[in-house]
Amino acid sequence: MKPRVLVVDDDEQNRALLSEKLLLDGYDVERASNGAEALAKVNAAAPDLILLDVMMPVMDGYEALRRLKSNEATRYIPVIILTGRGEIDDKVQGLEAGAEDYINKPYSLVEVSARVRSLLRMRALQTRLRETEKMAALGEMVDGIAHEVRNPLTAIGGMARRLFEGETAPQRKLYAQNIIKSVERLERMLQRIDEYKRILTTTLSVGDINNVINAAVKEIEEFIEGQEKEITVKVNLMQEPPPVRMDYKNLKVAMFNILQNSVEAIENKGEITVESFPAIDQTISVKITDNGCGISKEEIRKIFNPFQTSKLEGAGLGLTICYRIIQDHGSEITVDSVKGRGTTVTLKFHPAR
Ligand SMILES: Nc1ncnc2c1ncn2[C@@H]1O[C@H](COP(=O)(O)OP(=O)(O)O)[C@@H](O)[C@H]1O
Ligand SMILES: [Mg+2]
Repeated sequence: MKPRVLVVDDDEQNRALLSEKLLLDGYDVERASNGAEALAKVNAAAPDLILLDVMMPVMDGYEALRRLKSNEATRYIPVIILTGRGEIDDKVQGLEAGAEDYINKPYSLVEVSARVRSLLRMRALQTRLRETEKMAALGEMVDGIAHEVRNPLTAIGGMARRLFEGETAPQRKLYAQNIIKSVERLERMLQRIDEYKRILTTTLSVGDINNVINAAVKEIEEFIEGQEKEITVKVNLMQEPPPVRMDYKNLKVAMFNILQNSVEAIENKGEITVESFPAIDQTISVKITDNGCGISKEEIRKIFNPFQTSKLEGAGLGLTICYRIIQDHGSEITVDSVKGRGTTVTLKFHPAR
């Protein structure tokens, strides 16, 4: 997804100038002409960075800045204030109100460009750090809970099965069966948690990415055979890709999880394509595309979170595991989707040096 920048300036020409430059740099751009409008846009569009003019009617930049920085939901969005040349007070006041950086007016667009890039990079690093820490803490907690749950669950399952076998009254037999089903669902979840623990150790060695893709595809084809669905898997891989440092087993798990989601997203009949190709920036892209149910914009933000699932029988750990594995490879994963149309998951690998 492209980073989104919000440009706030009451001067239409400034707004246009900045927006044009930022669009050229490859960002999504939102615009607002005063502080109040900016706050509304922040809520509606969740920008990754804000360029904020100071002198504006209705609500000035400082007031907008104070409100942004006193709200937990918007506090971490970096803000660059645009201040008049030499007005030291402006800069001090802006920085004290929580701005991350300032740019003097009249500004050079090249400088704006560089500062935006640098702040976005810092924000991406911070987000990644926060996520890694969150995942580690969560992992420990989940592991503890799984450990505590396992024994009682075995007991409940065992007893329910005995009740089921000894019972003749249909109603009670049904109750016992429902208990067994629920236990099985929890057992699947524990299995996934074990899987998660296993992938926590990564051993990287140089290999051919096509081998992993082909192995995962083979597994998914076997999985499809066990389903009552008509799904074709098309594979189109680049010839002799440069070697990549990878953990073969873990990477296969990651790709299988992505493919499995594609299968599950297709209701009856559909197509999955798996491609690999070199990108301009020397990386190797692997794209997995399906024409299944797709994911809405709100959901997409959450799909990597543990236990996030839209499925009755889902554990919601498939993509959490996947994310972790891809991160351990120093690679990137992005998801693009249109609700009702389909989904594309892209993995980006850096060739081994
Ligand atoms: N290819 C896809 N098409 C549609 N939805 C998807 C796709 N991949 C993931 N999702 C959504 O993301 C959620 C989380 O996926 P995952 O972590 O694998 O958990 P689970 O598959 O157990 O639900 C899924 O429940 C689904 O809503
Ligand atoms: Mg899944």
